[in-house]
Amino acid sequence: MQYRRLGSSGLQLSALSFGAWVTFGGQIGRSEARNLVAAAWDYGVNFFDNAEGYANGAAEQVMGDVIADLRLPRDGYCVSSKVFFGAAADPRPTQRGLSRKHVRDACDAALRRLRVDHLDLYFCHRPDPETPVAETVWAMDALIRQGKVLYWGTSEWPAALIREAAQIARAHHLHGPTMEQPEYNLLRRERVELEYAPLYAELGLGTTIWSPLASGLLTGKYADGVPADSRLAQPQLEWLQGSVLGDATSDRTGRAGRFTALAAELGVAPGPLAIAWCLTNPHVSTVLLGASRVSQLLENLQALDLLERFDENVWRRVEAVTG
Ligand SMILES: NC(=O)c1ccc[n+]([C@@H]2O[C@H](COP(=O)([O-])OP(=O)(O)OC[C@H]3O[C@@H](n4cnc5c(N)ncnc54)[C@H](OP(=O)(O)O)[C@@H]3O)[C@@H](O)[C@H]2O)c1
Repeated sequence: MQYRRLGSSGLQLSALSFGAWVTFGGQIGRSEARNLVAAAWDYGVNFFDNAEGYANGAAEQVMGDVIADLRLPRDGYCVSSKVFFGAAADPRPTQRGLSRKHVRDACDAALRRLRVDHLDLYFCHRPDPETPVAETVWAMDALIRQGKVLYWGTSEWPAALIREAAQIARAHHLHGPTMEQPEYNLLRRERVELEYAPLYAELGLGTTIWSPLASGLLTGKYADGVPADSRLAQPQLEWLQGSVLGDATSDRTGRAGRFTALAAELGVAPGPLAIAWCLTNPHVSTVLLGASRVSQLLENLQALDLLERFDENVWRRVEAVTG
């Protein structure tokens, strides 16, 4: 495993980390979840990503359960949670968003579900137009001072709002955002490479990027339709099909097809190749992997070998075929 600093902070995260979305508390059972966390840990993964909204809190419960069961040393791994969407199936106004009340209540609930006394990373899962940014910055700072959170950050916030949060924090000597969690893969690059570009030097912003395989599309598994045991066939995820598979204008399936053909020409599996490409960006602190079975995870962890094996010429070809 390689370890990278989370932006300009002193926290060293494994370059490949592991997240619970869709799978934990939903698509897979506890025993497969346990095997996945154990395999990741054995490989040197030290960051496990969660959110209050994943399976309405059930994902965090499973994560807390298997980490406790595996007796991982608390100082050897990091866990996150994210606040915004709420954990209740039909949240009341105070059970969602980024108000001081919900930020604190959601943190306490995540601590209970994950069975820890602090969150290493705590994200604002989306911007909340109903709450002043300053209120959220003060709420996050309070959690850090109480020892309940170590680093806080954002997920899919516009650059201008991240900068505003950082300026408020600086003006009041509060802890500002350390990291952002954006989508980043060969089919979605703009935010990480262009919009956030000034923030890396300006704020020392780190990134924990998600969906490196575009929900599996870059493995080629959707080339001939949607397999019955895949993410896009999961009940309640119909909404995801459109954004993952795209339309004629975005040509996402065509670009994915050209990418998998190049991987075949290079003699490697497409999944780890797509993940390794994410790591060629030095502003990526860690790539969050998702997997519904251990064989996928073990394949994807081979990305680190490909990162060392291939040079600039290969990465430019990869970028050229995916547009
Ligand atoms: N902040 C946010 O808004 C946000 C949003 C999304 C995700 N995240 C985080 O990022 C993590 C990773 O995102 P993601 O799960 O979307 O990542 P991803 O790597 O794009 O997709 C993972 C899925 O692709 C399929 N897959 C993975 N490896 C494969 C392989 N080698 N061969 C074939 N299929 C394979 C599996 O689904 P199937 O087997 O079901 O097909 C797996 O669950 C999440 O767990 C979560 O922690 C954050």
